[in-house]
Amino acid sequence: MLKPISFCLLLCLVSFAHKVQSSPTVTFVGDNVSSSPITVAFVDNIEELDGFVTELDSLSDGKITKLLALNEFSAAANEVLHLQMVAGKTHLLLVGSQQDDKLTAPELQDLGGAIAAALRSTEKDVDASIIIDNLDTAEAYPAAHIAYGYHLRDYFFDKYKAVKRGGNSTLEFITPNPEMAKNLYENDLRYIAEGVHLARDLAWEPGKSLYPVEFVDRVKEKLKGKKNLKVRVLDVNDMEKLNMGAILGVGQGSIHEPRLLIVEYMGGDKDKAPIALAGKGVTFDTGGISLKPNANMWQMKSDLSGAAAVAGTMYAIASRQEAANVVGLMPLAENMPAEDAIRPGDALDTMKGTTIEIISTDAEGRLLLSDAVYYAQKEYQPALLLNIATLTGSAVRALSFEYAALITRDIETSVEVMGIGKRSGEHVWPLPLHPNHFDQIASDIADIKNSGAGNPGASIGAAVIGTFVDEDQPWIHLDIAGVDWLEADRPTVPRGAQGWGVRFMDQLVREKK
Ligand code: BES
Ligand code: ZN
Ligand code: MN
Repeated sequence: MLKPISFCLLLCLVSFAHKVQSSPTVTFVGDNVSSSPITVAFVDNIEELDGFVTELDSLSDGKITKLLALNEFSAAANEVLHLQMVAGKTHLLLVGSQQDDKLTAPELQDLGGAIAAALRSTEKDVDASIIIDNLDTAEAYPAAHIAYGYHLRDYFFDKYKAVKRGGNSTLEFITPNPEMAKNLYENDLRYIAEGVHLARDLAWEPGKSLYPVEFVDRVKEKLKGKKNLKVRVLDVNDMEKLNMGAILGVGQGSIHEPRLLIVEYMGGDKDKAPIALAGKGVTFDTGGISLKPNANMWQMKSDLSGAAAVAGTMYAIASRQEAANVVGLMPLAENMPAEDAIRPGDALDTMKGTTIEIISTDAEGRLLLSDAVYYAQKEYQPALLLNIATLTGSAVRALSFEYAALITRDIETSVEVMGIGKRSGEHVWPLPLHPNHFDQIASDIADIKNSGAGNPGASIGAAVIGTFVDEDQPWIHLDIAGVDWLEADRPTVPRGAQGWGVRFMDQLVREKK
């Protein structure tokens, strides 16, 4: 017979088995109304306290000043000093906010992330008051950005853990303009965080449970009921009719059929050309017959991060009903070695009517995107076409975790897009696209081949896709292989799947609609 205690344990495990980390409960008020056990305040200069911290300091006979001297705390941005039992507060979290210039929106978001990371180490369920009265920023509603940064960071992929790490967060922001801050967070920024979390969920999920049809179902479920939004799914039959041999070729060796998921969001003027966002969705990349080595192959469960970021972006812009027309295209396939998989040396048809010789079946992302970007142009005549993919190891080696690789046909566009990156909190850095890169993919038997002599790999990958993009089509290519998976925490990102691209593309839509 089960002892009562183990029975209860069992019950708890069962009832929490599918609980996912919930979003923080956030309120904005003009005055301190709650008695949260945790108080959070900012310090930008330890020599010269200001705002609420000064009040607490005098309330405790200068104890805070003394504790600051005893601890190694310089008030550098995102630095946290956790004090206990001081000035009548059980927990007092002092957060460094020093910067050379006024705090930008992404810097405020980082502060929120640093707070989330620190509070998670206090208690399972977090209940905190955050005092916004001394931040040096030009942003009108810094509290909303801090809440957004907190939300971004407060993420756990606990689905397969019996013992969950996350808990609930109740946050009260004490801030000027509480109504406006609430409006910005509740009706806008929080949806970006939710979109990022969706992208991370899809990237973390093992390939066993996330394959093309399952990806489609989950995204459909997430977008259900959104206004101005339509979902279309092309299956194998539809893609055969369109001659999409590149997408079909990649998916051919898997027991899971490929799909092309299309999300149309028409929140702008009816006759305005849309922005098209196409994301690589390889639900698992073994390399195919050109099999990858064992080391780190497990991480190729996140080779759908481009498509996941597009899904997260569509979720964000539809949730906040952006006045824009945006189409998200997600070609989905699993790249497996099998008796019926494509081989090196094969030639694949494409929707464009040209052929691609397969040099490596591991250069599969560019194949998916070749058909997808061509379809996007024919079907939607987009004002701007962007594609995003975990495309090359070359981008990882060139730029590592700091920047996504950005490739366009002209440096002026790249410089403009770098600005969008800075404002979004997700940074990009340009790599070249030279006519020689196109020469490298000339094939003996087909119109092009899917990989060149090797270097520079990121540019060769872009050249393959670029072959399917009209010369005069405004076009942005993003290679996120380096930024996709983080080895260490960032203020707004716990280590692992970053969900990179949602924040960037959301900002792009705001600025380029
Ligand atoms: N999905 C990989 C790229 C990748 C590598 C993403 C590391 C994240 C981390 C892609 O499909 C791939 O295998 N690219 C090859 C292309 C080569 C065969 C031309 C590469 O970069 O090695
Ligand atoms: Zn891949
Ligand atoms: Mn590959």
